[in-house]
Amino acid sequence: MIIAANLKTNFTRKETEKYVNELESYIQTKNITQEVLVFPAMSSLDSHDGKVIIGSQNAYATQNGAFTGEIGTEQLEEFKIKTILIGHSERRHILGETQEELVKKFNFYKELGFKIVYCVGEPLEVRESGNEKMMEYISTQYEGIDTNYENLIIAYEPVWAIGTGLTPTSEDIESIHTDLKNKSKAPLLYGGSVKVTNAKEVLSLNNVNGILVGSAALYVEHFCTMCNYAQEIENKNKENI
Ligand code: PGA
Repeated sequence: MIIAANLKTNFTRKETEKYVNELESYIQTKNITQEVLVFPAMSSLDSHDGKVIIGSQNAYATQNGAFTGEIGTEQLEEFKIKTILIGHSERRHILGETQEELVKKFNFYKELGFKIVYCVGEPLEVRESGNEKMMEYISTQYEGIDTNYENLIIAYEPVWAIGTGLTPTSEDIESIHTDLKNKSKAPLLYGGSVKVTNAKEVLSLNNVNGILVGSAALYVEHFCTMCNYAQEIENKNKENI
């Protein structure tokens, strides 16, 4: 499974280093073989030797150049970063990134072989307009995206569930994930108010291949526990084969 922490605009460089080191040591000690990703704030990006994979929350589709406020591959290469988050709802809705821009970014980083965590998800008013409209809306977020890309991970994150403490029911998550799996066989994460208290249940659902965690991941011990849950579930699944 894939367990990802989106640290957003939190932690200084020093705090992030401490966070990643604590997480790394937990994963080593507990022999966790799940894929663990951390997306720190841009100014806290750094090289990391170990099992934890560091990814960038964003980057411009460029090597370098005149793009004030952005970073490109030159800055990512410095830290050997080959993982990127694209299409997060905060970038779509707060920063105003369009599907067209996201596709451009996706294709650029795909060409470079990056592992791409691509986020999709509907706002509340779309959710309230019924299942058919909701699936149509989410489908538009797949437009222009190579759903067969080998290093693709998709994260389904309902916008209304992000940072709100609200989550869809387990039945809803399972049914949406089952529908989305018809669009792409890529690993599919669920994100939106995942906490230690619900992570185990979410990770156990059919067609959920991992979680993308924001607020609750800021507590390193909580995030470690979630990594452990994923390991336990995977071990159990293996026993049952
Ligand atoms: P949350 O954020 O866990 O705080 O809801 C998830 C995300 O934005 O990826």
